[in-house]
Amino acid sequence: MNLILLGPPGAGKGTHAQRLMNELGIPQISTGDALRQAVKAGTELGLSAKKYMEAGDLVPDELVIGIVEERLKAPDCQKGYILDGFPRTVKQAEALSRFAKIDVALNLSLADEVIIRRLSGRRVCLKCGGTYHISTLNGRDTCANCGEKLVQRKDDAPETIRNRLSVYAGQTAPLIDYYQQKGLLRTVDCDPDATVEETYDAVRKALDLA
Ligand code: AP5
Repeated sequence: MNLILLGPPGAGKGTHAQRLMNELGIPQISTGDALRQAVKAGTELGLSAKKYMEAGDLVPDELVIGIVEERLKAPDCQKGYILDGFPRTVKQAEALSRFAKIDVALNLSLADEVIIRRLSGRRVCLKCGGTYHISTLNGRDTCANCGEKLVQRKDDAPETIRNRLSVYAGQTAPLIDYYQQKGLLRTVDCDPDATVEETYDAVRKALDLA
């Protein structure tokens, strides 16, 4: 299955992409993770992307389209893949349609006030991409997968979260109509009180895995 996970920042794209990756045995391709690794490594791409990411703005289309086009050529993408955080603009979606055939665009929908609560408490592993929330960590500050120290993302500061939500509404939300018109859209209305596992069950149902 060639799958796109759509949805506002903090809707749970990364959380469910990791579960789908484990269940389906296909890679999660997160442009956010790729860009954060480039920033950490101080590459040319990272240096160009850093100021946009820290402000909560989108990195220019031409920088991310190339990353995904190259990544999809790798042998581990032959059986399918999960695109997490790409495409983010109509221009990216149009570029994607020239080098990939998408089966489903799954839209995770969630109210802004829940998003702000989730992102302010998020802790991440910059080594393996593990994602946690302080409410379930019980004081632990290391990654359960690889033992790396967990950190708070710089763009999870309250004022940056607000900008990311507004960037999402202006530049990314139009993709919901774009994929609806192509007959590829499925939506999960995420219950704000549901656990991660309960929401993942809804994701599986929407993908006909349950
Ligand atoms: P990116 O890393 O893609 O960030 P994002 O889209 O803003 O998404 P997030 O990673 O913040 O949220 P998520 O939906 O994955 O939620 P998560 O699963 O972590 O992008 C970062 C930046 O990179 C962008 O701002 C931009 O600058 C740049 N960029 C990336 N891709 C780009 C592109 N294509 N074009 C241009 N620029 C690009 O969940 C959030 C929290 O909620 C976690 O703590 C989680 O544990 C918790 N949680 C999840 N589900 C539940 C639940 N059911 N109950 C309780 N807690 C839950």
